[in-house]
Amino acid sequence: MKILIIHGSMRKGNTYAITKGIVNFLLTKPDVECTEISVADLELSFCRSCHVCFSKGEEHCPHHTAMRGVQSALMECDGVILSGTTYMWALNAAMKNLLDHLAYGVHRPALFGKKGMVIATSAGNGEKAVAKYLKTALGQWGINGAIVITQNTKERQLQSSDKTAVKFDRAAERFYQLIASNRFIAPKLKSIAVHNAFRAMSLSDFAENECDIQFWQQQGFYDRAYPVKAGPKYVAGALMYEAVKHLTIMLGRTYAKHLNTQK
Ligand SMILES: Cc1cc2nc3c(=O)[nH]c(=O)nc-3n(C[C@H](O)[C@H](O)[C@H](O)COP(=O)(O)O)c2cc1C
Repeated sequence: MKILIIHGSMRKGNTYAITKGIVNFLLTKPDVECTEISVADLELSFCRSCHVCFSKGEEHCPHHTAMRGVQSALMECDGVILSGTTYMWALNAAMKNLLDHLAYGVHRPALFGKKGMVIATSAGNGEKAVAKYLKTALGQWGINGAIVITQNTKERQLQSSDKTAVKFDRAAERFYQLIASNRFIAPKLKSIAVHNAFRAMSLSDFAENECDIQFWQQQGFYDRAYPVKAGPKYVAGALMYEAVKHLTIMLGRTYAKHLNTQK
């Protein structure tokens, strides 16, 4: 079982300590293999907004050399752990920058069937919003129902370290079991809606979607409202697809013009 861990803080502080505890627990399982990547080691410049990952493909990103390892590890893993910390009530910029470089994954979601976990810390406020954001990112790449761990300084002071360790070990065990069981996690209606919005948008008249069309075709994603079982929500996805398709074909032309004026 391959697990990818992305350490999102620039230092080996609170977030790293919790994440490392989870990794150590997972490594007690004989079938687990962990790959750890830290944003601090990537030397990743800010996303330049060149849009080539959307239009031509992620391999054309000017920062592809720094990103290549992350991208292939994401594709190869069975489970992924994203960790991040809270700066100004939001995800810290270094981790956000990494996610910006993976934004094409929302247009071309490729991680269906993998399992996720998110870990977020703060000194007192904002870690839950950060965790929610990280979970949303996983969801838009195709990973449903990620396990969430959050901790702020107040909680750290109030809870005994033994109790906290037990709590985190339990979460790690749940994550392991989730991957091992190959259990299906039903997508939320929102995930299906957004997936279908992108499914429809890829067909519109955008100036920058050649790569998306190819991807959706190759994956066979145009054939169904969601790539994994979605139950009755599937119908809502199909309706969303039809609605957005008509809307985006109309709006696509306007957006293409807008992009062209920015060049
Ligand atoms: C620039 C900066 C901004 C921060 N903003 C917040 C904040 O908005 N809310 C909060 O509770 N803690 C904030 N903190 C504290 C960190 O979130 C907290 O110490 C966190 O656990 C640090 O994680 P790390 O040890 O993994 O780096 C901030 C810290 C820094 C350096």
